[in-house]
Amino acid sequence: MNKNSRLHQKLKDAFEQLEMDFYPCFDWQFPPPNVKATMPTPVFEQRLSEVKNYSIYLHVPFCLSVCKFCYYSVSAAKENAPIRENYFNSLMREIKAYAKAIPANAKCESVYIGGGTPTAMGSKLTAIVNTLYEKFDLSECREFTVESSPNTLHREYLEELKLAGVNRVSYGVQTLDQEVLHGVNRHYDIKSIIEDLKILGNIIGNFNVDTMYDLPGETDWAIINTLETLTKYSPGITMYALDPIREKGSVAIQETAREAQRKFHTAKKYLTSSGYKQLFQNNFVREGGSYIHQIRRWDNLPVLAIGPSSQGYLPRFQYTNVNSIRQYVGREGDFSIEVQQELDLNLEIARELTTKLRFTGVNVDEFNKKYGFDLFSTFSEMIDVLIAGDQLEFSDGILKLTIAGERNNNIVPMLFSPDEITRELCQMKHPLAPVFGDFGQRQSSVYLRA
Ligand SMILES: C[S@@+](CC[C@H](N)C(=O)[O-])C[C@H]1O[C@@H](n2cnc3c(N)ncnc32)[C@H](O)[C@@H]1O
Ligand code: SF4
Repeated sequence: MNKNSRLHQKLKDAFEQLEMDFYPCFDWQFPPPNVKATMPTPVFEQRLSEVKNYSIYLHVPFCLSVCKFCYYSVSAAKENAPIRENYFNSLMREIKAYAKAIPANAKCESVYIGGGTPTAMGSKLTAIVNTLYEKFDLSECREFTVESSPNTLHREYLEELKLAGVNRVSYGVQTLDQEVLHGVNRHYDIKSIIEDLKILGNIIGNFNVDTMYDLPGETDWAIINTLETLTKYSPGITMYALDPIREKGSVAIQETAREAQRKFHTAKKYLTSSGYKQLFQNNFVREGGSYIHQIRRWDNLPVLAIGPSSQGYLPRFQYTNVNSIRQYVGREGDFSIEVQQELDLNLEIARELTTKLRFTGVNVDEFNKKYGFDLFSTFSEMIDVLIAGDQLEFSDGILKLTIAGERNNNIVPMLFSPDEITRELCQMKHPLAPVFGDFGQRQSSVYLRA
């Protein structure tokens, strides 16, 4: 067996072990934050004071009820529960601290208020939107999104949000199969969803719907039937595989990951033949829709993270906020960072390379210019093997995953990690360890000379 076929075999083995992790891309952070966790230091405020253009992610962790599958840090606290009021006040404190710490001429280019279900906050959400406009320079903000779910929208409310400056909504539908919805603790009827979709189209225009496949009891027919209806209304469609790894236990793992992939590809075929473009991985868009905030995030641009469990990034610095709502409202300082990591040049390069490879694609000339090295000669052997093995493709100056490579989106990018990460992964007995042993470490050590 020659070296390349030996490597192919090792990659195949790693793919087998890791393929459960198919498109669970919300909380991707590279390098993994547990690699080097430290307590907050003044470096964070220093980096904030240097920020130029940035995005904001703000977390609202409240929902009407908690879905059985959900792995976010959320609460179904009632509208008048004290924790909600405390949370709101705490959030205002953090917003003001960020506004004070960044330069006055820094521009915010996109805002994403996610959750949870921010629209479950009613007029408190409008107050948050107003405060963001008041405290930050949003004159060049191209996309201002709020997440939402059924039973939280009505015409006047959407008009109020639009007036405040919201120009995009991300609306969680998951499926239009009534029984499946009940089974995961989502109780509303399909008619009300269609009404919401109509007013979203009329009032906001730019919106996307989240759907999930592989939910218990959800047939192929239900997935296509759901998409058939949604494509009549929504300019953006996002598809998530039920992530059974972090899911809280009450939804049985129904299918193998291979089945999930088959479902995804059937759905993708349906969407692309219905006029949608696959923007990146699991996001599909037609005219009138956009995913600017997500693309900025995957392009490794600065994101200020406000609220619990949010992840932020500033050049050469990444951080994650405290996870629980109680910890958040009970914290002492204005910011809420729990884990932070300064990134040296190697880690910064690795972060950008792996994130772009995973989600969008690497413009090789731009990348080489930015970091002053030659990606193809640094990783020549590995890129050759991955292109020959139908995992990567290079065209029009962009290096990206092939369709076959997309299935291994959690693995292929990791091969470009520098030594300090691969060593950690090897110690964790990560399935990729045998592959790194072959050439990952030797090649990635070239980073150090970049
Ligand atoms: C933060 S939630 C907010 C959306 C909104 N609260 C809703 O559910 O209608 C964003 C999306 O994450 C997805 N999601 C949540 N838990 C998931 C899981 N365990 N596996 C896969 N996707 C999940 C759902 O599609 C959901 O719409
Ligand atoms: S999926 Fe959405 S509505 Fe359901 S618990 Fe999670 S954030 Fe809340």
